[in-house]
Parts: sequence; C-alpha cells; structure tokens
Amino acid sequence: MRFKAIFKKFNLSLFYIMYLFGYTVIAIDLNFEKNFGNIRMKNSARGRVDPFIVMDVMEAARQISKLGHEVIHLEVGQPGTGAPTLAKEKVINGLSDSTMGYTVALGIPELREKIADLYWRWYKIKVDPERIIVTPGSSGSFILAFTGLFDVGDTVGIGSPGYPSYRQILKALSLNTCAIKTTSDNKFQPIATDIKDKNLDGLLIASPANPTGSMLNKDELEGLMEACDQKQTVFISDEIYHGIEYDTRAVSALEISDDCFVINSFSKYFSMTGWRLGWIVVPYDYIRQFERLAQNLFICAPHISQVAALGALDSHDELNQNLGTYRANRALLIEQLPKIGFKKFAPPDGAFYFYIDVSDYTDNSLNFCKAILEEVRVAITPGIDFDPDRGLETVRLSYACSTPDLKKGLSRLDNFMSKYRL
Ligand SMILES: Cc1ncc(COP(=O)(O)O)c(C=O)c1O
Repeated sequence: MRFKAIFKKFNLSLFYIMYLFGYTVIAIDLNFEKNFGNIRMKNSARGRVDPFIVMDVMEAARQISKLGHEVIHLEVGQPGTGAPTLAKEKVINGLSDSTMGYTVALGIPELREKIADLYWRWYKIKVDPERIIVTPGSSGSFILAFTGLFDVGDTVGIGSPGYPSYRQILKALSLNTCAIKTTSDNKFQPIATDIKDKNLDGLLIASPANPTGSMLNKDELEGLMEACDQKQTVFISDEIYHGIEYDTRAVSALEISDDCFVINSFSKYFSMTGWRLGWIVVPYDYIRQFERLAQNLFICAPHISQVAALGALDSHDELNQNLGTYRANRALLIEQLPKIGFKKFAPPDGAFYFYIDVSDYTDNSLNFCKAILEEVRVAITPGIDFDPDRGLETVRLSYACSTPDLKKGLSRLDNFMSKYRL
C-alpha cells in the first residue's frame, strides 16, 4: 500500500518534477485511450472495437524515438531477429522467377505440404496437406474460423487474461465473447470444469498463452477437448507459440483429435511478423466452405511471403539459435526481476513473455507503464490489454529482443524501481 501511495503521488507530479529539474518534457499523447472523434457519417457499433494497447504503446515509443531518444522495446511480441536467411534467399530468387501474382486461395501446394511435414517433425503426427489453409497471418485464420463456424450472436469462450484481439475480432463480427476468468492456480488457463455450466458455441485456447506463456499439458488439453465434444462446442487451438518452449514441448490439439481447428503462424517461431503469413488446419468436411470464404475474403495470402515461408521451413538450425536467445533471456529475467522488485510472476513454459503482478506498486498499470516509458524509455505493456477486469494490476514484458537490449532495459527498469524498493 505504501508503495502504491508513493507511486500515485509521484506519477501525478512527474511532469512537474521533470520540469523543475530541467528535463525536456516530452509532450506526446501517451493517453492510450483514443476516442472516435466526430464521425458524422454512419459507422457501425460492431466496428467500435477497443484499441490494441500494445500497438498504441509502440506508437508512443516511436514518437519518443523520433525525438532522438533510444527506447528499449519490451512491449511487443515480436522477435528482434528478422526472417531466416533461407527465407530471404528464396525471396530474392523468387522475385526474378515469378510475377508474384495471386496464388490459389488455399495456398501454394508445396507450402501446404511442407507445413504438413512440420506436424510430423514436431509431433510425429500425419496431417493431410489438403486440410491446411494458408492465411494472411494467424489473424486471417481467426477471421476465417469465426466467419466459417459461427453465426451472428453466437458465443465463443476465451480465457482471461488472453490475447486482446480475440475479443475485438469477435466483436467486429457481431459475435459474443464469454470471458473465462482463469486463476493463477490453473496457470491462467481455462480448465474443463470452467466450461461445464456454460453454453458456448466455441472455445478458443492458446498454449503457450499470451500474456503468461503458460502451457496446458496433454491431460488438461484432452479434458477441455472432451468437455467441448460433449457439449458440441467447437474447439479452436491457437498454437502460434509452438516451437518456443523451454522445459517440455507444447502439445498440439491435433495429437488428441482431428475434430478441432488448429491455428498457427510464421510470426513467432519463424520470426516473420511483418510477412503476414499463418495457417489453419480444418477437418475434411470444412475444407470447401473455408476455401470459398478464403477466396472471397482474402483471395490468397501474400505470394511473396508464401515463397519466403518455403525457406523458413528449412531453417530450423537458425531458428533454434533464436530459441537459444529466448532461453538465455528468460533465465536472465528469472534471476533479475525479483532483484528489481518484480517478484510476483510464474516463469513461462513457452512463448517470450513474463506476466507480472505489480499490485504492490500501482493499481493503474496504464499509468505505471506510461511513467516507465516517459522516465526511463522502456516500453512495456499494461495488463489491461489482456484482462479488462484485473489487468490494472499487471504488466507484460516481452523478451523477444536481443540479450544486450534486454540487459539495458533491465538496468533502466532497475533505476525506475529504485524509488519504490525498501
Ligand atoms: C496468441 C496470439 N495469437 C495470434 C496473434 C496474431 O499473430 P499473427 O497475425 O502475426 O500471426 C498473436 C500476436 O501477437 C498472439 O499473441
């Protein structure tokens, strides 16, 4: 409580103190709450989604950088590395060999075959390439799945905290979100009993999860899938962080049953965020309907990115080096965060995030993150992005950056926190 009071007091007078001590006051709009202005023409209620706060934090950080200040980016879930070398080589050669026109809507057949091989490589399961649909990012797969599976007014369950865009995409498609309030005892993951008394048309889970990095083991996943099966609830598994695991490997829903929808992406393990490429595996009966939707919604995923992905799928050595960096960063954070004053977290099983309880210091994580950005130029994300009810007492820190950057960020966070430590 004492820390909270000091923080609040300090936060209120931050600009004043900076002014008094002659600092350049950065008068940037760090108010992440954007309103909709005076739109006079018709606009849809379903389109009035919340901002993706991490993107707003990125924008605020960019403005600070523009003024010549170095910002350390621990906010965005984006590998600091670019696309793997083989992917870039494929693109360079591909550009001279091809007009890069539309591809077939389901994706280049060779790419779908290579993605199927990945399921054998990672889980020793055979997935028919016919069931794989390549999309613009996994974000494209969510749009495809939600439009292909649900009707207006249907309800989809998602764990809270969770990836913020799930609920915003659902809203934009006039679907209802049922936020399942998860607990730290269950690693902030939904469990089978959570859904027994709920009438859900669909359940969407992520393991490893964003923002916690926690994973469901095979029994837990099986329990959830069985519970869904009994209630005829469609099961969707977001496996975007597969490949980025530390002590145990992540389990794919496809290892348990083919009656589910599995979404993945080239953004995280394959380090290709801006290439906008992902995929969804669907049961046989859904291929044609999803193909029609893909044809009409996107025509196809970016051709050039599909070519790059062919190279990325042959780059496991290079990608495993990235994994080595995440592993080292994770170990560094487990050691350093408590010393800095951030003691309340569970080490992530996968992905590249720490979800930290900062309730000893603030009850407004938005202001807390603003103060950190303004004062020591480290960008981190307020938990409110992931959990509208409880996220004012949490923050998410991404360690997908290089180790030297992370060390610099930690030393700045240490400076910031020095005022609050006993
Ligand atoms: C859990 C989760 N799912 C999906 C996405 C969307 O990723 P993309 O559209 O780049 O594949 C993200 C992005 O951070 C994420 O964290």
